[in-house]
Parts: sequence; structure tokens; C-alpha cells
Amino acid sequence: MDRIAPSPAESLLRKLAVAAVGRTGSKLADLYERIGRELPDTRLVFQNHGYAEAGETFDWLRPEDAGHRYPLNLARYLVAGLDLDDRAILDVGCGRGGTCSFLVRYFQPRQVVGLDYAGSCIALCRRAHDHPRLSFVRGDAALLPLADESFDVVTNIESSHCYPAPWMFFAGVWRVLKPGGRFCYTDVFGDLAEPARMRRRLESSGLVIESEDDITDRVARGLAAGYADFERLLGDMTSEQRGNADLVASMLRSIKRIPDEAYASGKAVYVAWRARKPDPMPGSSGRDADGRDGAGDTP
Ligand SMILES: C[S@@+](CC[C@H](N)C(=O)[O-])C[C@H]1O[C@@H](n2cnc3c(N)ncnc32)[C@H](O)[C@@H]1O
Repeated sequence: MDRIAPSPAESLLRKLAVAAVGRTGSKLADLYERIGRELPDTRLVFQNHGYAEAGETFDWLRPEDAGHRYPLNLARYLVAGLDLDDRAILDVGCGRGGTCSFLVRYFQPRQVVGLDYAGSCIALCRRAHDHPRLSFVRGDAALLPLADESFDVVTNIESSHCYPAPWMFFAGVWRVLKPGGRFCYTDVFGDLAEPARMRRRLESSGLVIESEDDITDRVARGLAAGYADFERLLGDMTSEQRGNADLVASMLRSIKRIPDEAYASGKAVYVAWRARKPDPMPGSSGRDADGRDGAGDTP
């Protein structure tokens, strides 16, 4: 993986963006840093709300993933239909590495890179997921420390709400994607006007939106159905020695409340986008850097 440092101009731009929006985004980022520190158990590999369609059978799921089927299913939904074999994939806001591990085990990518702001998450990822085609890097979504046109696919799950300048992130996604590359993006929005703003920011970055899907009901179903798994897993990780009982209790309280209080009440929406970096060649469309059309099977 080629790594690059941000230019002084880019670093300055991020500082200005943070000042302009009046918040640093660090409060939420700090929370994930803390969770990584106080819950260093490598069995917890996802921190998203999950996804379940009505009557979902999970017949494709491997037995070792049974304990986190719903959050893993969100990652699976996000890349459904893409041909990921021999592709270079970047997962931004990778958290504890569950999506990266899913991608490298269920598909045959050439390379998967997970990036996260939280050093504790990156350290945990390196301990939890050992695979020759998988690597992790600490970095900021607004200043991706990665080379231009080095990825075929960028994924981003439930992380952008932490970013003070999402437009800088989208500009970075455009830069690191190869022409024809795909951006698979999903997040929760407490401000119901925010998805429209995100759509405009995506379009302004030069990415072409291929699909937009309001998946609130499916995420609410996944979160409610996955509660028992979270409760069991987090219960096993509560330890007096680490003093993490309060953190675990507050995580479980919020996981339990969100399906009704945020989703069923209509106070929050969960939206997924698929966008493409256009091919610069006039007249060509829908083909990636290798001349393939991007469509494929999902296991
Ligand atoms: C809700 S978790 C989702 C993690 C993962 N995508 C998943 O599905 O399990 C949000 C993640 O975004 C990361 N994050 C927050 N701000 C970030 C930033 N500026 N750059 C990169 N990652 C960031 C957090 O550290 C956290 O791991």
C-alpha cells in the first residue's frame, strides 16, 4: 500500500473546515477510542446497527460469524452485486475491522485496507484479523493518507456522522478511487434534512450517484434482532478490573432504545448510497479500470 502525507494546504483546509462547522468531531471519535481501550476483546468486531430483511434466512452465513450476523449483514448489503475479486478495497472508519474481515474471507480481493481515526481500534484490528491481504492504517477520513487512484472500491459504514467536514472525505474518496471505482456508503442521520445535503456533497465531489436507498426499517429490524447477541457479547466483556461496567451498560441502553426511539419514531433515518467515479474517457460508462462492468455475485 502506498501511503502519502497530506499537503500543508490540505491540513490547513481541514483546520478551517473544523473551525467553520464549530465542532471538532472529536467527542464521538474519543468515544470510539475509549471503547477500543476499555473493551479490547477481539470478539467484538462490529459497531454498526445491523441490517435484516423480512424473513432473512442467513443461509450464506459462516458458523463462526453467527454472533454478529446482523452487523455483518449491513456490510454484505452495501457491497451486494459488486465484483470484488482481485479488487483493492478501502474501508474508511473500519472500527474493529469486522467489515474488512468479512470482505477478505467471503470474497477474493487483491487487497483490503481498513482505516480508522481511533488508535485503539487499529491496534485491536491488527490483533484480531490476521490475513495476508489485509492491513490497517490509522488516519483521518478527511485526509486519507493513501495514493491517488489506488482503490477499486471504498466502503464507509456508520462513520461519516463523526466527521466535521464530510465534503473533504468525499473529495478524498474521489481522489483515491480509480476511474470507474465504486463508493459504497451508508450512515444514520438524526437531522432528517442531512441526507439531501450529503447527496449534494457527494455530487459536488464529482462522484456519480447510482443508487440511494432508505434502509431505516431494515436497520431497525437488524438492531432489534441483534440485541441479544450484543448483550451476550458485551456481558462477557464486562470486567471489574477494567472498570468498564458503566460503559457497557450505557452501550446496551442505547442499543435497546434506538429501534423505537430513533427509527420507529421517525427521528432518525439510515440511508445507503452507491456512487461511481466517472471514467474520464468520453463515451465510456459503467466500466472500471480493468474494463469489467463492476457487477457480480454476492455469496
Ligand atoms: C459506529 S463506528 C462504525 C465502525 C465500523 N464501520 C462498523 O461498521 O463496525 C464509527 C467509526 O468511525 C471512526 N471515526 C470517527 N471519526 C473518524 C475520522 N475522522 N476518520 C476515520 N474514522 C473515524 C470511529 O473511530 C469508529 O471506529
